[in-house]
Amino acid sequence: MDSADVLLSVQDLHTYYGDSYVLQGVSLQVPRGQVVAVLGRNGMGKTTLIRSLFGLTPPRQGSISFMGAPLTGLAPYEVAARGISLVPQGRRIFRHLTVRENLLLPVSGLAKGRQALSDQGGHTWTFDSVLHEFPQLRDRLSNGGSELSGGEQQMLAIGRALMSNPALVLMDEPSEGLSPRYVLHVADILRRMRSLGHAVLLVEQNLSMALSVADQVLIIASGRLVFKGTPEALQAQPQVLHDHLGVSAG
Ligand SMILES: Nc1ncnc2c1ncn2[C@@H]1O[C@H](COP(=O)(O)OP(=O)(O)OP(=O)(O)O)[C@@H](O)[C@H]1O
Ligand SMILES: [Mg+2]
Repeated sequence: MDSADVLLSVQDLHTYYGDSYVLQGVSLQVPRGQVVAVLGRNGMGKTTLIRSLFGLTPPRQGSISFMGAPLTGLAPYEVAARGISLVPQGRRIFRHLTVRENLLLPVSGLAKGRQALSDQGGHTWTFDSVLHEFPQLRDRLSNGGSELSGGEQQMLAIGRALMSNPALVLMDEPSEGLSPRYVLHVADILRRMRSLGHAVLLVEQNLSMALSVADQVLIIASGRLVFKGTPEALQAQPQVLHDHLGVSAG
């Protein structure tokens, strides 16, 4: 891959919680405008990978670079200012703020100075275009976050991430706990984001959803990557599907 096409480059990450050794040497690359899915069973280190990249649980060893500049050691707000948004596991919207306030928070003073996708000639999201994408939020603008359904909260979490026009979105299990209809909606949004130039590192446990949107698939097991390839290459390996994702043959 031409280095100019690499948006995020991660080399040999090792991350601990105290003495607990979780990421044991993870290396990966996210090319510009691609969806890279990270799959793996519960407790294998998917969220820890996202936390390491976003500066929430800094790695003890390894390096991260984004658009060619080092990211290692930066605080989460500095990572965000470089043009990376996080859609955390369990949605984590501000439950005591309204939908409107949740959406407008990223464009308030705190987020000034961030390198937006639009600065690089990419798509520019606005309050109106986000609401166009998530029509169910339009009728709920004055509702508190806690009054939304799980699906609506997930749409809000994704919409909020888009408001800062990130070049890369880190998404941690966006389909978790959603109805089939909302899972399809999340897949549609991911395809739309890719078509607009956003890259996504997508952590998922919904295999069919992830395979339907991903350009590349990584599988993590006990803090190490055990598979890297296209969705087609993964589907041609029933043993890998069985061993690491619990998919039985036939
Ligand atoms: N704050 C923490 N302190 C100590 N150990 C943790 C902490 N967070 C996670 N762990 C442990 O680290 C390992 C990896 O957890 P992680 O949350 O990254 O897994 P995951 O792949 O995201 O799982 P899930 O699919 O359930 O979200 C697990 O053994 C977990 O118990
Ligand atoms: Mg997790």
